[in-house]
Amino acid sequence: MAKKVFKCAVVGCSSMAKLHMRGIADNENAELYAICGTDEENLKIRAEEFGVERVYTDYNYLVNDPELDAVVLVTPDQIHREMTEKFLKAGKAVLCEKPMALTVEDCEAMIACEREVGGKLMIGQICRANPRFAKMKEIIDSGRIGELMFVESEYAHNYERTSGFEDWRKVPERHPFIGGGCHAVDLLRWLAGDPIEVTAYSNKKYLKDWPVDDNTVAIFKFPNEVIGKVFVSIGCKRDYTMRTCVYGTKGTLIVESKAPYVQLYETNEELGCRFSDVNPQMIYAGYKDHNASKEIKDFIDALSDGKPMPVSSLDGANTVAVCCAAVESAKNGAPVKIGYLA
Ligand SMILES: NC(=O)c1ccc[n+]([C@@H]2O[C@H](COP(=O)([O-])OP(=O)(O)OC[C@H]3O[C@@H](n4cnc5c(N)ncnc54)[C@H](O)[C@@H]3O)[C@@H](O)[C@H]2O)c1
Repeated sequence: MAKKVFKCAVVGCSSMAKLHMRGIADNENAELYAICGTDEENLKIRAEEFGVERVYTDYNYLVNDPELDAVVLVTPDQIHREMTEKFLKAGKAVLCEKPMALTVEDCEAMIACEREVGGKLMIGQICRANPRFAKMKEIIDSGRIGELMFVESEYAHNYERTSGFEDWRKVPERHPFIGGGCHAVDLLRWLAGDPIEVTAYSNKKYLKDWPVDDNTVAIFKFPNEVIGKVFVSIGCKRDYTMRTCVYGTKGTLIVESKAPYVQLYETNEELGCRFSDVNPQMIYAGYKDHNASKEIKDFIDALSDGKPMPVSSLDGANTVAVCCAAVESAKNGAPVKIGYLA
């Protein structure tokens, strides 16, 4: 039997939204039915690029459209909750961009709404769709690098020219460790489990007019005595990177910025541990840092097969909980125990 083709809309029309539109347009079980945005110039460009006829500046038209099956929200973090709740109550499946929201309270409300209406809500933690990070996870789970000892990731960016439509990123409630750092935090949770405690420090050295600190380092206690670290900067002078290293008792994995490989160092029986003599194995995985097409495919497949959402609302909320605990700790450098939603 032919599979249903899900009528999808994208709210938001930035370059990130474009990647989601491309993912929908290229998916045989999805149709890019409508788009919506408040910046009319970009909206017009996207409508022409994708040949979409239903184009709105008010998302309520989509909420009230009985034909629409699903929506992808690529809108400012502060309005994720309001939009998600309206679409869920109207019976639409929702793929909401990361971070799920900026507070744990908002995440809890979104989960409560999803459960109340029996809806489907996925969170766009896109690192899980990155082939290099998926390869890292596969190697860790196979036991090849032994027991984990230390995991670290970073989100190093320069927001000098990217504060978003109408400066929505440049507000006190959008702390960079939640807004951007959620990528690195979610990745480490996926690879090493839920951290128990965090101690963090932050400063403001680059974006002096930003309302909150622009650099944070957070140290985590993970289960099984694994140590972790996340570095977040939104002003640093380098290319965007999510460099990630995982140290195990039998080997080490490294994903460098922009390299399509996972580097694997393994204990070598002949050379022992003199790794200065050993080149890493370069495991090709492909460079797809913003793999929205895979995320859309996972979303549509789960809807098609009636399966749970690949990155659930609970997962998205618990990533926000970890980020908020780090922000709390950075206020005075005192350790904070991390509470999780169930
Ligand atoms: N997964 C990733 O790697 C990634 C990358 C970039 C952004 N994001 C996330 O995507 C979201 C959007 O970020 P962006 O970079 O596209 O921001 P942006 O400022 O470039 O675009 C925001 C879009 O939201 C639209 N919008 C704002 N208010 C609206 C409203 N009331 N109704 C309809 N549309 C509205 C604007 O028209 C604009 O098109 C954020 O949650 C951000 O954290 C994720």
